[in-house]
Order: sequence, then structure tokens, then C-alpha cells
Amino acid sequence: MVTPPRPSVAAMAAYPTSEATIPGFENPIQLGSNELGFPASPLAEAAMRDSADRGPQYSDADHVALRRALAQCHGLNFDRIICGAGSMEIMSQIGQSYLEPGRGLVMSQYGYRLMKTLAEIAGADVVLTPERDLTCDVDALLAGVTPATTMVFCVNPNNPTGTVLPFSEIRRLRANLRDDVMLILDAAYGEFVDMPDYQTGETLVDEGTNTVVLRTFSKVHGLAGLRVGWAYAHDDVIATLQKMRLPGSIGAQAQAGATASVNDPAHVAQSRNAVIALRERFIAQLRQFGLEPVPSHASFVLVRIPDHVGMDSEALYQAVKARGILLRRVGNFGLDGYIRISIGAPHEMAALTDVLTDILG
Ligand SMILES: Cc1ncc(COP(=O)(O)O)c(C=O)c1O
Repeated sequence: MVTPPRPSVAAMAAYPTSEATIPGFENPIQLGSNELGFPASPLAEAAMRDSADRGPQYSDADHVALRRALAQCHGLNFDRIICGAGSMEIMSQIGQSYLEPGRGLVMSQYGYRLMKTLAEIAGADVVLTPERDLTCDVDALLAGVTPATTMVFCVNPNNPTGTVLPFSEIRRLRANLRDDVMLILDAAYGEFVDMPDYQTGETLVDEGTNTVVLRTFSKVHGLAGLRVGWAYAHDDVIATLQKMRLPGSIGAQAQAGATASVNDPAHVAQSRNAVIALRERFIAQLRQFGLEPVPSHASFVLVRIPDHVGMDSEALYQAVKARGILLRRVGNFGLDGYIRISIGAPHEMAALTDVLTDILG
């Protein structure tokens, strides 16, 4: 018999990852992982090449150059920036620091599930609140708060729905939470929002509220493989997360690549605009196929497969997979009848459109 894990870990399911291979296809098209379909900044690639000889030394545990670049680019306070091996690592540190049995997390029913998994690992209670039109409902989040709640998690824009809340709603949420309830705003897809009243939320941190904003290099920067994310948080939260950090979790090449990418805002803007243009064109094509895309502010589209199409979401997923393209099933997130499709490279989207024409046309 092996050592039994902690009861909270024994009781939970593993976080579902996307399929990565298709038998018979050497290079399947991956539209299930929300990776950028465009190359990263050439400056980032050059910086990584230039730091290729830094293997023998440990990387900078305080990420000084990267934090300086982020502070300057976004007009933020250097001391309130903390970096991690992807925003997932920071989320995990937040879960370990602030959740335990008897404490609670509130998040909306289709909110990014990793935070729910992390709360379960910590043995905390999770309250999932109902959404309206597949969009996070601030009143429902507020109604879900109990005296035991320590954390409210709001993903904006949300994954897997792609829907977004205006900053006025985020402000209303913060204003109506107790001061000791931490608000976590996950803005992994914030750059892809095309709406005037949107903000990723760092302002709330600088106003001194108990708020954490999560950002990542995995989406618009096209650097998912480097594993770099960052957070902007209240000074006391930063002091706590500093204790939880593993020095050196971001390698030297990853830090160099991410720093160079921050310093190439024109390239980032170009990627953002290309994704938005492709997304809107793809949404129009999906409607022509009789499918029902949810209007998206992210780098993916959630699509409902209505009955009249003649096949359900699993059958469509399998038919597309049989032609070498991986999409993302979302039934396990409670979204039966839907599929999530990442906006990939232009040729990948064209290949998918051809496949859908074949299957549905
Ligand atoms: C909403 C959301 N938050 C966070 C992450 C994690 O990003 P990272 O690669 O920085 O760990 C993802 C990744 O898909 C995401 O969709």
C-alpha cells in the first residue's frame, strides 16, 4: 500500500488538459489550447538565442529586468509586480497561501476551472454562482459570498465562454465585497477585448484594495512554452506570495524572451489586431454553417451546436479530429452541446473552414 494523499486531494479529479495527438497525423492542427497562431516577437526570439549560454547559472530569482520592463510598459509600480512560471503558478501560490478547509472561494459557474481545482487541493469550499447569457453575473457572485469566503475569482474575459464584463461591473463587484475578501481578476485574454469600457484592473490595486490581477505571456505574446506569467497585487499580498515563491522557477531564457517581448509593443499590437480580425471573420463563417458562436472577446470562440445541424458536439469534435484538427470539448465544464475553438494561424483557420464545409456544408 502506498501513502494515502491528503483527503482533499484523494477526493478530487485531475484538471482536464486538451488532447495533443491524433493517431495517423504527424502534425495535427491544435486549436484546443488557446495558443497564439502567430510568431512571437523577433526581438524575443533573438533575446532567447542570445541567452542560450546562460545554462550554467541560476536565473535571476527576482526577475528584475522583466518587472522593470512591465512596470515601464504598463505604468505600474515595480514593487507590486510578481512573476511566476505561468500565471498558473501564481494562482497555485495564491491557493496555497489563502485557502484551507473552512475558507471559501466564490467563482461563476463557467469560470476558468483551474482555480476550482486549486481550491479543492487546498480543501476549501467552492461556491459556483449562476451566469446570465454565459456571462459572469456580479450580483450572483455577491450573493454567493458567505462569512467564510476569502476569495472571489473573476476571469475577464472568461475562458471558455469568451464573454467579458465592463470595468464598471468589476468596480461594482469590488465595492460590494468585504475588504477582507480578495478579488482575483484573471486577465489572461485582456489584450483581445474590443470594447471601450474594459480594463484589466490594475487601477483597483493602486487604489489600495485587496485585489490581484493575473496576466500572462502565454496568449497575446505567443510565448506559452516559456511559462511566464505575472501578477499585480496589494503590497501585503505581494509580501505573502514572496514567501511562497520557488527561486528560479522562470529560467534565464524565458525571462530574456518575455522581457524583449514587453519591449516590442508594436509586435504585440499587430498580433492582437490579427487575432481580432480572424476571430470576427471566423464567427461570421460559423454562422453561415448554421452553428451558434458566442460573441467573443478572447482568442477563441465558444460554439453551440444546435440540433438542426444533425450531429451533436461530440460527433462534430470527432469528425473534425478524424481530419487532423483538435478542438476543445467543454462538456466537463458543464457546457454540453458546445465546443471551444482557438483562433490559430490563418492557414489553420482556413483548413478548419474547409473541413467544416466538408462535414456540414
Ligand atoms: C483564463 C486563464 N487564466 C490563466 C491561464 C494560464 O496561463 P499561463 O500559461 O500563464 O499559466 C490560462 C491558460 O489557458 C487561462 O485560460
